This record gives sequence, structure tokens and C-alpha cells, in this order.
Amino acid sequence: MAQYHGSEDDRRGGSAVALSGTSNREQARLTTAPVIRLATASDIEAVFRVNTAAFPDEDVAALVDELRANGNLTLSLVAEMDGEVVGYVGFSPVTFKPEAPGIRALQLSPLGVVPARQRQGIGGMLVREALSRCREVGVDAVFLLGHPEYYPRFGFRPARELGVHYQDDRDAFMGIELREGALAGVEARLVLSGEFDRFV
Ligand SMILES: CC(C)(COP(=O)(O)OP(=O)(O)OC[C@H]1O[C@@H](n2cnc3c(N)ncnc32)[C@H](O)[C@@H]1OP(=O)(O)O)[C@@H](O)C(=O)NCCC(=O)NCCS
Repeated sequence: MAQYHGSEDDRRGGSAVALSGTSNREQARLTTAPVIRLATASDIEAVFRVNTAAFPDEDVAALVDELRANGNLTLSLVAEMDGEVVGYVGFSPVTFKPEAPGIRALQLSPLGVVPARQRQGIGGMLVREALSRCREVGVDAVFLLGHPEYYPRFGFRPARELGVHYQDDRDAFMGIELREGALAGVEARLVLSGEFDRFV
């Protein structure tokens, strides 16, 4: 799949979007309002630090480096507060087995927020902004392996309900259609980018 705008190779970088559901006046008061923006090449070390802090027991930071090196970081967003990167979300390509021609799908992974900034809405802002950008560029569906209590608030549901399967069809394997009916008639297994093999 072609890389969408938002890969870290994209040096334009600067289209920062202040999100938060707060009014402009509120944002002016909150000096620490998070900004969600595309990751750029200059964020690479900060992204590594965020993923190391968010996933102390897993080698997620190295996984992101590997995805980037292989050209498989399709979309990368960071959350920045007071000039510091405090959250990250990355997307990579997936395929279907048997093939599902014409369906453009991505995997959301990883999503991480530094411990000191968790439970302040930043993870939610990253997910919502990322899904909105995916929708804008015509991505049909997004899948992930994650906390089954967390992702339904963004519209994710067990992927098996969408006809897409992964290993034992665990509840943690979830999906969302970004275009209604995009997955109609699909009955397939999802194949993640090879960098994830050691995690699953
Ligand atoms: C999961 C994570 C990305 C959420 O980001 P966040 O900015 O803390 O989340 P938000 O502030 O947007 O949402 C907070 C809500 O998320 C839910 N939540 C957070 N972490 C959760 C977890 N591990 N399991 C289930 N729900 C969780 C809670 O309902 C919480 O609401 P509460 O504060 O009322 O209890 C963040 O906690 C994190 O980086 N965790 C460590 C890494 C990780 O597990 N990443 C996700 C892999 S699927």
C-alpha cells in the first residue's frame, strides 16, 4: 500500500492541529493543551522515549524503529505538550487472506502515552485525530489488538463481527469500518506487517 501523508519521511510536518474539545478561550488559558500533529524525522528520539516509558516490559520502541526502517510506518502522530512529545500512535499496513481486493486497511499499533500524562484524554485525542486522518485519505478500515475496555469508545468492536479474524478471535482483536459497509461480504484472516511476528 502506498504511504499516506503523515509518514515520518514527510518533512512538511508542520500542520499542527490543536484538538481537545475545549474552546479557543480555554486553550489560550491552558498553556499545556496537547497538540496532536504528524510526527517528523526530528521526533524519532522522542517517540522512542515515549514508547519505552509507555511499554516498559515490551520492546515496542524498537518495533517502531523497525517499522520505520522498513517503510511500514504508514501514519505517525505525536501528542505534544509544552514542546515535549508525551504520546504517540502509529499505523502500519495489513493484508487479508484470502485477499480482499480494493479494501484499504491499516493496523493501529502502538498507542502510548507517558505514564505521567495518562488518563488526561491524550490517548483519546490521538486515536480520534488518527482515525479522522485515515478517513480523509480513504482508508476503509482499521484493526488493532488492544484493551477491549478502551477502544469501543472510538467505535471499535470485535473484528470477528466484521468478518475479519485473527488467531483465536480474541476480544482484544478489534476493528472499525471508516466507510459504512466497507467490509460487507468480507470473511478473511488479517495478516499483520511482519515486524509484529515476535509480539503475537
Ligand atoms: C492505554 C493508553 C494509551 C490510554 O491513553 P490515555 O491518555 O491514558 O487515555 P485517555 O485519557 O484517553 O482515556 C482514559 C481512559 O482510558 C481507559 N484506560 C486507560 N488505560 C486503560 C487500560 N490499560 N485498560 C483499559 N482501559 C484503560 C480508562 O477508562 C480511562 O478512563 P478513567 O481515567 O476514567 O479510568 C495509555 O494508558 C497507555 O499508554 N498505556 C500504556 C501502554 C498501553 O497499554 N497502550 C495500549 C496498548 S493497546
